[in-house]
Amino acid sequence: MTSLVRPAMIWAASWTDTVRDFGALEAMNGSGHWHAEQVEATAEGCARFIATVLASESADPAGTRVASTYYWIADCGPQASVDGEIVGFLSLRHELNEFLRAEGGHIGYSIRPARRRQGHATRALALALARAAELGIDDALVTCDDNNVASARAIERCGGTLDDVHNGKRRYWIRTTASTDA
Ligand SMILES: CC(C)(COP(=O)(O)OP(=O)(O)OC[C@H]1O[C@@H](n2cnc3c(N)ncnc32)[C@H](O)[C@@H]1OP(=O)(O)O)[C@@H](O)C(=O)NCCC(=O)NCCS
Repeated sequence: MTSLVRPAMIWAASWTDTVRDFGALEAMNGSGHWHAEQVEATAEGCARFIATVLASESADPAGTRVASTYYWIADCGPQASVDGEIVGFLSLRHELNEFLRAEGGHIGYSIRPARRRQGHATRALALALARAAELGIDDALVTCDDNNVASARAIERCGGTLDDVHNGKRRYWIRTTASTDA
């Protein structure tokens, strides 16, 4: 079962595995890694990463960073904190600024290489759309690189309607209230 969980130390062991699996930080879309100077795949590194990411969720006074919520994508059984593991990252931006409207969109996500093609991205996106609806976002913008077949497919599965392809990015709008059944 795919769940969105909040960053917390109970997930430190599988967070560490996940970061190692990604290898390159740049691939960890939706993790908020750009807020951290470095990310160390250890329990201490996990604690530092959580503190950094949670401190970056509010909008900055200069208006360059909008408010967002960071989630870790977990594969959980009935007792999430005991039998779950982290398989990816997702960020939900509460509003769009110029960059997000052009390229980034409301939601960014990634799944660790070892756990791809198991439906996690599609289900995590559907869950995030429900969270977006709760924030009052009726239409979410979700983007992906024009050649990112898997991400485009996940977006379309969640009801995405292609708006345009701009600067190599496919820009989709998804009606949030009708998109939670992926
Ligand atoms: C894109 C990404 C998130 C997809 O994650 P995932 O969990 O493997 O996706 P899903 O299992 O939900 O698959 C979504 C669809 O894409 C298809 N798919 C997955 N990987 C694919 C691939 N490599 N080639 C073609 N289709 C693929 C799946 O079959 C599925 O289609 P279906 O619903 O018709 O069966 C993952 O590959 C990733 O993290 N990539 C790097 C970061 C990234 O690109 N993030 C998205 C940018 S916002």
